[in-house]
Amino acid sequence: MSDEPLVLGIETSCDETGVGIVRGHTLLADAVASSVEEHARFGGVVPEVASRAHLEAMVPTIERACETAGIALSDVDAVAVTSGPGLAGALLVGVASAKALALGLDKPLYGVNHLAAHIAVDQLEHGPLPEPCLALLVSGGHSSLLMVEDVTVGVEPLGATIDDAAGEAFDKVARLLGLPFPGGPHIDLAAASGNSVAIDFPRGLSGRKDLERHRFDFSFSGLKTAVARWVEAQERAGTEINVPDVAASFQEAVCDVLVRKALDAASTHGIDDIMIGGGVAANRRLRAMATERAAARGIRVRVPRPGLCTDNGAMVAALGSELVLRGRAPSELDLPADSSQPITTVVA
Ligand code: KG4
Ligand code: ZN
Repeated sequence: MSDEPLVLGIETSCDETGVGIVRGHTLLADAVASSVEEHARFGGVVPEVASRAHLEAMVPTIERACETAGIALSDVDAVAVTSGPGLAGALLVGVASAKALALGLDKPLYGVNHLAAHIAVDQLEHGPLPEPCLALLVSGGHSSLLMVEDVTVGVEPLGATIDDAAGEAFDKVARLLGLPFPGGPHIDLAAASGNSVAIDFPRGLSGRKDLERHRFDFSFSGLKTAVARWVEAQERAGTEINVPDVAASFQEAVCDVLVRKALDAASTHGIDDIMIGGGVAANRRLRAMATERAAARGIRVRVPRPGLCTDNGAMVAALGSELVLRGRAPSELDLPADSSQPITTVVA
């Protein structure tokens, strides 16, 4: 028997029903059921469709995770669940399920912050998180630069997007180019055979004046509009659109701003370690560019493998396990789902 806590984590903040099982820092199971295909024809996640899919997937996904981990539910020492931020109805399914499990098993319940979980997951792959470190979280719902002193206590926001999230920009530009939803992986793929300097797309909030007020903030809506205008102009001129070149040039603009600001924040705060998380961290150009530019400055970059970057239950279990290991207090059983839970609240 191990002394390390066995934690089951549940994630339902968006369209992935994730159930992860972690012992200490060791990943035992990461079962994910996605409703992404049900949303594809709408070009974005439909909250009610997602909630219903979570409801249907929850029990089978828990069973699958236990089977993979080779454990019985009664072995679990604590239950962790994403309490926010996310889609209200979707979160509710996870929170209600976690409460039922915690109550039935008579084990502590941890309602955790989705963003802090995206940070903590890296421990499953690269070992204890260096603290302090800087986290760049980029997904369909968020784009933030965060200072992490102690991932179980609180995270300080340094900057965030003022309009679209990075993943949202990938999804919208993919749509403009006729690529399927979610667009990020398709842009990543198309860009691999494109020329990243073919079109000089704008770098949001990077001018001298913008940097005064928004040094560590992001903006991607201007870039998205620039791509739309460029595509329209080509269509008007009857020129065929070179999808790989547009994808590569767009991707370069997004990655350039993300990496430049993350490195600037790290240098400014004297931080030597950056972790990148969230779905967009699966992007191959972002991973390569960040690693290469950081190395030139003596900064280390940690990025979990793509499957742990997108939403999953393992990340929730990883944070839950860290909370147990550090002796943090659990949540109450009347824990609410909080669609706008602030990043400063790690445990609700
Ligand atoms: O973290 P995540 O699974 O869900 C949210 O919390 O939003 O992130 C999903 C986002 C989508 O916008 C998707 O297009 C983007 O991550 N994404 C990517 C890649 N893989 C997923 N973006 C760029 N390149 C990728 N390879
Ligand atoms: Zn996420």
